[in-house]
Amino acid sequence: MAVDSESMALVKRALNHLKRKGTDQAADTLSQPLASYIDPAQYKKEVDRLFKHLPLALALSLELPEPKSYRAMTVMEVPLILVRGADGVARAFLNACRHRGAQLCQHGTGTAERFVCPYHAWQYDIQGKLTGLYGASTFGEVSAETHSLTELACAERSGLIWVKLTPGESFQIDDWLGDFSTQLDTLNLERWYLYDQRDIPGPSWKVAWEGYLESYHHNTVHVNTVGKFTIGNLTLHDTYGPHQRIVFGRRSLADLPSTPEAQWEPETHIRRIHLGFPNLAISGVLGDHCLVSQVFPGPTPDTTVTRQSVLAAKRPVTEQEKQATEAFSQIVLQAVRDEDYVIGAGVQAGLKSGANTAFTIGRNEPAVQHFHKTVAGFMAPSGGPDHPA
Ligand code: FES
Ligand SMILES: [Fe+2]
Repeated sequence: MAVDSESMALVKRALNHLKRKGTDQAADTLSQPLASYIDPAQYKKEVDRLFKHLPLALALSLELPEPKSYRAMTVMEVPLILVRGADGVARAFLNACRHRGAQLCQHGTGTAERFVCPYHAWQYDIQGKLTGLYGASTFGEVSAETHSLTELACAERSGLIWVKLTPGESFQIDDWLGDFSTQLDTLNLERWYLYDQRDIPGPSWKVAWEGYLESYHHNTVHVNTVGKFTIGNLTLHDTYGPHQRIVFGRRSLADLPSTPEAQWEPETHIRRIHLGFPNLAISGVLGDHCLVSQVFPGPTPDTTVTRQSVLAAKRPVTEQEKQATEAFSQIVLQAVRDEDYVIGAGVQAGLKSGANTAFTIGRNEPAVQHFHKTVAGFMAPSGGPDHPA
């Protein structure tokens, strides 16, 4: 297999750190005021600016595998339908009938020729256009122009479907992703197999999200799960505007110095985690498996819902493949639900105790720092809607 030069460069960076017990570092520690975790007014403003007015990756392209595939779901109290038109284009609509607002589609996935409202049977095509009206001659004047489904701005890029949750707003996905899309493209996300998907309740979004951004906790919190494979406190850090890529070293990295460089298979010794601002993490932990996490703020400031999508490089067929995929699925469930979010619940419980007035984010946690600085940039009076100040 050809070794790409970037993988090799990353392995060398990681190896260099391993020799010195080092890691990529920020210039200084960061003092992060507790108010930024608990202030209800700030929380509301952040949810509005960062989640309702920025493009979010709401689904994987492979969740709409063919024309007419749809997925109906509620994201942060917004009911929506993602649907791939007969033309292959992914679109997003609010899941609310334009007559008197009934939900057109139950949560879930499937294929649809059209959407028929369960209340009074108005019909829409899968491009959102009002196509039929029960009792049309009795109803009065309505038309496709005035009463088609409310569309949300939507773009498909790098194997993900990006949507803005506020009707009437648009975005340019290339502007939003910049160079990050080149990084995402290396994952070939559209080619994977979706093995499992689940929603996990967690602590407040910053407490939950910080855990995705560093390996400093791996050898303590995850000693029996992902920490078995990664070297704690060794992280490579690169940024792409608001987005980030961190790279963890695998324990096998320690064997490399005794192996001739020509025999190195760099991808087996590192794990890349792609972090789309504000809430998307794509991480490979074991070989042919990948975990996609979307962390959504909950209805109250102290809750989140994390959607975990477990991907396998291909559909597991043999008993061995099935076991390997299930083992990966269980390990990432355990690592997040029973480890990260248990610690997070403890953090949450102490936030208002007065023990800390600020958290200190280490030089060895550069991605956590970048995240907080990016949030601050978007929240600054001159920040947003699409760019931090
Ligand atoms: S609410 Fe949908 S047809 Fe009446
Ligand atoms: Fe963790």
